[in-house]
Amino acid sequence: MTNVLVIVGAQWGDEGKGAIVDFLAEKADLVCRYAGGNNAGHTVVVKGKVFKFHLLPSGIIHSSKINLLGNGMVIDPHVLCEEISTLEKQGFSIDENNLAISSRAHVITQNHIDEDLNKGGKVGTTGRGIGPCYTSKIARTGTRMGDFVAAEGKFADKLKPMVTDTTHLVNESITAGKKVLVEGAQATLLDIDHGTYPYVTSSNPSAGGACTGLGIGPTRIDSVIGIGKAYITRVGNGAFPTEQGTPEEMEKEEKSDSCTEEDISRANSNEDYFVGKVLRRQGREYGTTTGRPRRCGWFDVVAMKYAIEINGMSAVVITKLDVLSGLKKIKVCTAYEIDGQPVKWFPPDNNTLSHATPVYESLAGWDEDISSITSFDKLPLAAQEYVKRIEQLMGVPVAILSVGPGREQKIVLDSKELL
Ligand code: GDP
Ligand code: IMO
Ligand code: MG
Repeated sequence: MTNVLVIVGAQWGDEGKGAIVDFLAEKADLVCRYAGGNNAGHTVVVKGKVFKFHLLPSGIIHSSKINLLGNGMVIDPHVLCEEISTLEKQGFSIDENNLAISSRAHVITQNHIDEDLNKGGKVGTTGRGIGPCYTSKIARTGTRMGDFVAAEGKFADKLKPMVTDTTHLVNESITAGKKVLVEGAQATLLDIDHGTYPYVTSSNPSAGGACTGLGIGPTRIDSVIGIGKAYITRVGNGAFPTEQGTPEEMEKEEKSDSCTEEDISRANSNEDYFVGKVLRRQGREYGTTTGRPRRCGWFDVVAMKYAIEINGMSAVVITKLDVLSGLKKIKVCTAYEIDGQPVKWFPPDNNTLSHATPVYESLAGWDEDISSITSFDKLPLAAQEYVKRIEQLMGVPVAILSVGPGREQKIVLDSKELL
């Protein structure tokens, strides 16, 4: 039985973690964030209404859940207060009964933000002060939420009732048999230790971070599920072997949610840039936090298998399958070639990865709009074959398939590892 389930990003972020957490939150008693801050942008769509969360866990719109911001997070009090007020204006009540903020989480200050804006260009950070705040934490010069709310101030006064010892709360809940859903932010390939350093974030978004970032022992986690898109995207700089088109071409492109017949036809004639453009536009691949266009590419099994190992994933969720509709051929990267040598394992450094040429397997695509399909066997055969093939290549089961942003657009294939 799964009581404690950790959801992690398996790629470079924006895999649809928020939407899956919202879908699974129904059965959870607690929904907990453990890493990162408002560099995250998690989108949840319920009955056509769009919610964008940066700090609040995606369980917050389910009344009666406790939502928890763990000690591993870095919190900008101003942004958190704004996020709370936005929801309050929409009729949600947020207080100490449904939100607990760790007194040990670190506070992002204006100095952190200024420093990030000045120095984050090379990495392409979100400019939210994340790296500098974690730097202060490690240098032992930071301010924690407990100290922040001890002093008076507009934001401190608002947040004070919710700031508490969340470590005890989460452990006590697990001991009492409560269902705990743990929401990762960022993703494995952005992990400060395991990602494409230095083009990474400054925390451990991978599953190990859930232990340190919440104060729970590894033995308390029952299951880890990784979320991956049916293709892959990246925002910011760094190596990206299966990228279609270049960042320079992308920068010149107009932001839009639709592509022309010519875009699709040129994508189907194997013009890389147009494959990227079709994925970006059909997938609405523009950042939730910064609005930046996302670099897009084919599904990368090498990266996925690495993420499966690093996180000890027992299952994966594949999102945005609907976005591939209209592409005649869908490619999957099964290995890399680096300096003329075949490589099946994700290289440990960004420089080596930047020399990787993907080895592709081509699969048949489908034309149908699949966004209202609710069972696997109703999907076009080519879509079924695509999912079965990546499942076989990854070696772990696909627990959920997502065919649209909405709560109702999730197809459960294997519920064993779910709450
Ligand atoms: P997160 O950071 O991992 O939570 O992902 P984001 O919310 O940043 O980005 C995912 C985007 O894709 C959001 O705009 C979601 O509404 C949307 N989305 C999630 N799942 C699906 C899906 O299966 N199909 C489509 N078309 N969009 C999806
Ligand atoms: P969610 O949770 C995608 C990327 C930034 C940059 C690098 C470092 O929505 O998936 P930072 O501001 O963290 O110091 O930036 O990490 N990045 C993300 N990319 N999704 C995210 O979060 C990200 N959070 C950080 O673009 O390349
Ligand atoms: Mg996001």
